[in-house]
Amino acid sequence: MSKTIKTDINYLMAETLGYQYGISPEVINDKAAQAAQALKAVQKARGTGWLGWTELPYNQDAIVEDILQTAKSINERFESFVVLGIGGSALGPIAVHQALKHLHYNEGTKAQRGHPRFYVEDNIDPERMKALLDVIDVKTTCFNIITKSGGTAETMSQYLIISDLLKKAVGETWHEHIIATTDKEKGNLIKLAKKEGFKLFFVPSSVGGRFSELSPVGLLPAAVCGIDIKAMLQGAKDMDERCKNENLWENPALLQAVIQYIAMEEMGINIHVMMPYADSLKYMADWFCQLWAESLGKSVTRRGMAVNVGQTPVKSLGVTDQHSQLQLYTEGPYDKVVTFLRVEDFRVKQGIPHGCEDFPDVAFLGGKSLNALIEAEYQGTRYALLRSGRMSQTITFPKVDEHTIGQFIYLFEMATAYTGELLDIDAFNQPGVEESKIASYAVLGNTGEKYLSKQKEMASLPEAKSEYII
Ligand code: PA5
Repeated sequence: MSKTIKTDINYLMAETLGYQYGISPEVINDKAAQAAQALKAVQKARGTGWLGWTELPYNQDAIVEDILQTAKSINERFESFVVLGIGGSALGPIAVHQALKHLHYNEGTKAQRGHPRFYVEDNIDPERMKALLDVIDVKTTCFNIITKSGGTAETMSQYLIISDLLKKAVGETWHEHIIATTDKEKGNLIKLAKKEGFKLFFVPSSVGGRFSELSPVGLLPAAVCGIDIKAMLQGAKDMDERCKNENLWENPALLQAVIQYIAMEEMGINIHVMMPYADSLKYMADWFCQLWAESLGKSVTRRGMAVNVGQTPVKSLGVTDQHSQLQLYTEGPYDKVVTFLRVEDFRVKQGIPHGCEDFPDVAFLGGKSLNALIEAEYQGTRYALLRSGRMSQTITFPKVDEHTIGQFIYLFEMATAYTGELLDIDAFNQPGVEESKIASYAVLGNTGEKYLSKQKEMASLPEAKSEYII
């Protein structure tokens, strides 16, 4: 089993970064009482309300067995496995697959893959749907429709397209090609699933979309591709132990929450860049962006006081974005904290051969490795940020595997919950997203009452002026 992931905050602390730009240990210690309150509140509410996700590492033994059995039969029967979902119903499956499978998985032969081709369709661009249908054969494809609410327009329109195609292509066995992952009681998908006889998995009602990766939402797609889901859950359990620690300095989620709380509330650091130095972790940054943005971007406290808080999360890839975004991070406004994700031990070592001896600036690379180069570039970037007074921290993965990925997911879920407590906001709702959903349905002509009143409201906007359209 791999070791634990570690967070190194040296480069955001005053001792290293300087007192003008860094956080002093005293400032963190001043927040100890508030942090203790946040810890107590979250730990006391575990498993209740919207905190069902805290228990996912512990309460899914039978579900995991069902998932493994189902994954086995999908493997035996199907060539491709397609997730239809969006937001919290898609970003986790994408991130985990990217982290733990071959980076060109779908292009491998069947023998190389050992499992079905894998696609996650998390958008409704018509060209993308056509592109998917061009490369899969629905007759040999299993579709996992994932929607917690059971009614998201994007996912349900994909369902309508796919079920229609399946009925035409395979006839009465079409329902065997569909697995539904949804709430046990609420929404339309559960009703449809029962009517049509789809295999079902449930998202517990106490688990919101962006906190659902360790539920069947993420576990089934992972298991279908041969990812060890028990090791992922073990990683989450191990992280949970660390995140219960009452000592702020030994609790990585609580310390993370306190640092970001200070950054936002006292330093105007309202942008949080996540920069993995590993392609395998590229989409973990996307997953983090949703979790952080949708949970912490809120207009009011739990008592209704206007606050408009939140850090804008930004995804950036090392080293690629050193050549596109880094200039801004080192010289632009002092409003960012960068979280590097670093891998100690890559799963392969790629040497760089000797050559170009007449060109010393090229020749010096010979005999080194891409592993050493990417590490040096991370260190160089971290140093450049330090030199310009910018805060950064590093989360090191001893290696990227199921156990460390489980740890990472749970770490940021818990850090999000603690940060929400410190900010005194509801980290588990998303009224801003709901507003957009209702407005879209209204535009598309849904005649339900709330959509009709939204249509009226939208129609009262001033008419667009032609001089503003150039
Ligand atoms: O975190 C959330 O709740 C959202 O991002 C949802 O995951 C997203 O809107 C999709 O919702 P659903 O799973 O209900 O289709």
